[in-house]
Amino acid sequence: MKETRIVLDGTAPVTEGEGLVLDDVGHSYGGRVVVDGVSLAVEPGELVCLLGPSGCGKTTTLRIAAGLERPETGRVMLNRRVVSQGQGGVHIPPEDRNVGFLFQDYALFPHLSVFDNVAFGLRHWPVAERRQRIHEVLVQVGMEAYASAYPHMLSGGQQQRIALARALAPGPRLMLLDEPFSGLDSRLRDQVRDQTLHVLKEAGVSTLMVTHDPEEAMFMADRIALMRDGRIVQLGRPVDLYCNPVEAFVANFFGEVNRITGKVRGGEVETPFGRLSAPGLGEGAEAEILIRPEALFLSPAEGDEGDGAAKVVASRLLGRSSLVHLCVGDAQGAHLHLHSRMPGRFLPAEDEIMKVRLDRGQCFVFPAQKG
Ligand SMILES: Nc1ncnc2c1ncn2[C@@H]1O[C@H](COP(=O)(O)OP(=O)(O)O)[C@@H](O)[C@H]1O
Ligand SMILES: [Mg+2]
Repeated sequence: MKETRIVLDGTAPVTEGEGLVLDDVGHSYGGRVVVDGVSLAVEPGELVCLLGPSGCGKTTTLRIAAGLERPETGRVMLNRRVVSQGQGGVHIPPEDRNVGFLFQDYALFPHLSVFDNVAFGLRHWPVAERRQRIHEVLVQVGMEAYASAYPHMLSGGQQQRIALARALAPGPRLMLLDEPFSGLDSRLRDQVRDQTLHVLKEAGVSTLMVTHDPEEAMFMADRIALMRDGRIVQLGRPVDLYCNPVEAFVANFFGEVNRITGKVRGGEVETPFGRLSAPGLGEGAEAEILIRPEALFLSPAEGDEGDGAAKVVASRLLGRSSLVHLCVGDAQGAHLHLHSRMPGRFLPAEDEIMKVRLDRGQCFVFPAQKG
């Protein structure tokens, strides 16, 4: 078989294969580009999340993968077959792609039983096989006891599981999920997320899922594609994005960070708690230093702490962790307000002096933003 090599995330060429491939896909609405050269692959059995702020083009990308939207440029491949090609090329409609959908408004048919809802996508199956398959997917989502129930008799979480079963029933080779948990209240959401992850992994189906919630993406994804303004900013495992963000936007997106600035001297920048290396930045360059609150580890001061000292402004227990507001003097004699997040209950008194140890693995140095 002929193997073409295409560039998938702008960093490494990948051999196109099974699963979903988006190759340099672009789309615009009314002359405004909303998807701009997106390339990514979802390997068989893999779960990839499209993550990013509202309006960055996630849903449009998903709709292009589904065939609900025709890309203007680039191409979409499913299991080595081109299913969409920009500029008026081939376009296989969604119903002929063998993909399953689960969107935020996954409305079940209210007048149909659970059994008949799941049967919907299996209309053309022989009766005996259909029965067997419905039973199988209801077992998969743990709802086999509810086959004859009607949607109004089910909780929100149970309805969501039936919608998942309905989407999985025809045995799609790709599942497309758009904010599938956002209609559920927060406690139920955690539980349904967990069940959905297990069901998808057990079914072994490739999945592309849209979310704007970084924690949800980290919980669900094998890999995350973080988008901004129609482009993928970084594509990788959750640990890659969290621990090795390629730019400040990525570090920021995964939670609050302390932000200070400094000038590069001898390949390093100064912080109140020690020097950090500034790879790739020239001598004298302005640097933006991002320090996760978890990177500031506090312990009671033992005397004159000199450099590594900070004064407590306030302490708050947040549940599993505590947030300590600190006042720190920098090299120029100015006062910085920084946040430290400590595990468990850690509540030093106001005005107490703390010793600060810096976890350099949770600090990131970038060129300062201009303007
Ligand atoms: N059918 C449409 N017509 C015109 N503009 C659209 C349409 N769908 C989406 N957009 C615009 O395209 C941009 C990207 O939208 P979308 O892909 O839904 O983003 P996301 O899912 O990341 O929130 C937004 O600015 C949105 O307003
Ligand atoms: Mg969307």
